[in-house]
Amino acid sequence: MRRTLIVGNWKMYKTIEESTAYMQAVIPLVKDSTAEPWLAVPFTAIHSDSEAAKGSNILVGAQNMNDASEGAFTGEISAKMLVNAGAQFVIVGHSERRHIFKEDDAFIGRKVHRGLTSGLKTILCIGEKHAERQEGRTKEVLLAQLSGALKQLQADQLENLVLAYEPVWAIGSHEPATPEQADEAHLFCREWLSETFGEAVSERTPILYGGSVKKDNAAALLNKLHIDGLLIGGASLDPASFSQIVNCQHTKVTTP
Ligand code: PGA
Repeated sequence: MRRTLIVGNWKMYKTIEESTAYMQAVIPLVKDSTAEPWLAVPFTAIHSDSEAAKGSNILVGAQNMNDASEGAFTGEISAKMLVNAGAQFVIVGHSERRHIFKEDDAFIGRKVHRGLTSGLKTILCIGEKHAERQEGRTKEVLLAQLSGALKQLQADQLENLVLAYEPVWAIGSHEPATPEQADEAHLFCREWLSETFGEAVSERTPILYGGSVKKDNAAALLNKLHIDGLLIGGASLDPASFSQIVNCQHTKVTTP
């Protein structure tokens, strides 16, 4: 049985006070969950939220970082700073980073390497745009993003890797992928991991789905064999909504 990860991504929302109130509200709501609740919070709230999460089952992490260890990079943040502030994981390659901030696969690959070698669980996001799916190029795009970001790494460096399949057209759009569309993409990623790094890496790497996940569609997605968890933007901003997804009852279909 694979683990189930439910990761909230708050994006550029919540002050320190707002996020502290959220933590106080959410901790009792998810304390008995079999899924693992993770929250990617703004940099400014990592310290206070990771302190608040001590003794709970919640992991606090970051939404981005730079690939360099340190240096003259005005406005950037390093893996070491995130760990020092209390982060246990980092998201890299989110579609908003790729498309708004023009991050490419090589840069994202260096961040994955930095995250994993700094002791951060590292969530690599990949996903195709709407036109790419229409043109039948989904797998080609996923392949380029996977190999672009992971090809310099060895199997023994991937213990703390998490993948997140987030079709760009589904993010914040109220148009989630169907469970079947997502499962097909996840299977493609799983097979690529197996061919590239071996069966053990493929089996232990959680593959999350993200894009317009709400409490009403979470269970149907999690029922799919290759969907090991969810990455949630909008619906993670409210503790009640996030906890309903974390606690949602699902039954994994064990045959494809
Ligand atoms: P959404 O965002 O749940 O609001 O669609 C998902 C994400 O950006 O990770």
